[in-house]
Amino acid sequence: MNFQQRRMAVMDSLPPQSLAVFFSGRAPVRSADENYPFSVNRNFAYLTGLDGEQMALVLIKTETSVQSVLFQPMPDPDLARWVGGRMEPEHSRAIAKVNRVLPQEQLESFLYRQMKLFSSSQPVKVGLDLSCEGWYQQVDPAYQFARQLSERYPAAQVCDLHRTLAQLRMIKTEEEIERIRQAAEATITAVKVMMRHCAEGISETELEGVFDFALMKQGIREHAFPTICASAHHATVLHYSDNNAIIEPGSLVLCDLGAAVDHYCADITRTFPASGRFTARQKEIYDIVLQGQRKVIEAVRPGITLGQLNQVLVNWYQQALPPTGLLDNGKTVGDYYYHSVSHHLGLDAHDASVAGTALQPGMVITVEPGLYVKQEGIGIRIEDDLLVTQDGSQNLTAGLMRTTEEIEAFMNKGEQHHG
Ligand code: GLY
Ligand code: MN
Ligand code: MN
Repeated sequence: MNFQQRRMAVMDSLPPQSLAVFFSGRAPVRSADENYPFSVNRNFAYLTGLDGEQMALVLIKTETSVQSVLFQPMPDPDLARWVGGRMEPEHSRAIAKVNRVLPQEQLESFLYRQMKLFSSSQPVKVGLDLSCEGWYQQVDPAYQFARQLSERYPAAQVCDLHRTLAQLRMIKTEEEIERIRQAAEATITAVKVMMRHCAEGISETELEGVFDFALMKQGIREHAFPTICASAHHATVLHYSDNNAIIEPGSLVLCDLGAAVDHYCADITRTFPASGRFTARQKEIYDIVLQGQRKVIEAVRPGITLGQLNQVLVNWYQQALPPTGLLDNGKTVGDYYYHSVSHHLGLDAHDASVAGTALQPGMVITVEPGLYVKQEGIGIRIEDDLLVTQDGSQNLTAGLMRTTEEIEAFMNKGEQHHG
């Protein structure tokens, strides 16, 4: 599906005489005159291929067609001297294949004029992406617009298109899969550099820096999400991001990270021993996680749900954990495994999806079993990215080693060479 087809598909969910408005967003203020780095609204990017700030896409559905109009800040020579040039309207139009590009300032008057043209006896339906959750809603342009609309145009009826978009975004095109593949390959290359660099006594910060540098060497600055580089008990905190502890002798290091290419994400986790050798206990627990991952990957095929995949893993843990002693004293699997095994992957690392949807060919998901044994300073997760195919799946991150033998051989290769 190209951008035009995606826009048509979104508007299929609204009747003729409807509008939809999508905002690219703007960077939140960090402090004084500094903003946080801008990150485009992914539904806007999905429908336009653009990632500029303060843009809006308006879709107008009549009885016979869907027209698309892009609103954007126009090039400004003064601003260009400070922050560089903005995209020329013709350039935006060529990428997004919209019918027209107009100055951002004209958005409101355009919309209200269009609503007047439409309004008859029926309230005009206005589709918005109301997917942002929590306090952020207060500043999300779609929510602001929805509030303004209800005050100024009470006859309009807001429709949330979030679910429609999620449904579309779950199935990836060849082009999207190719970008995820590129992000995965770059991440694999960088993780290998990290694993070779890792040593007892260095800091998690240093190791994170090695990953960033290895990505940048490949020309990539975009991350799928903040890197998790967590040694020992820090790895039992699922979204640990301090990444500033010293990697103590004998500890495991869990690295959960991903590059992004044109915003398409990879999401990989590997857990490896700082010394290059697993202890017997670390290996025992690691192998249970790895075996669990194999079982889940075998179960991935069209028709199964993410909830069912998670159940495959929990069933396995129930069977595999008793001999480790971890379930003694009334402990349960939930004491050591407290997330779920899969999520969709795409323009977001935790990509748009409709809960409970059965897998279909063209979907991309992660498989990421973990076990977190805080009292032993052991946190293990193994995460790969899978493309669902007609009869199973293809592992897009198969090129990165995952058995303890492979990891030890890889980490000790340099040493043997020099020693
Ligand atoms: N880093 C979060 C996840 O793997 O889902
Ligand atoms: Mn991850
Ligand atoms: Mn993940």
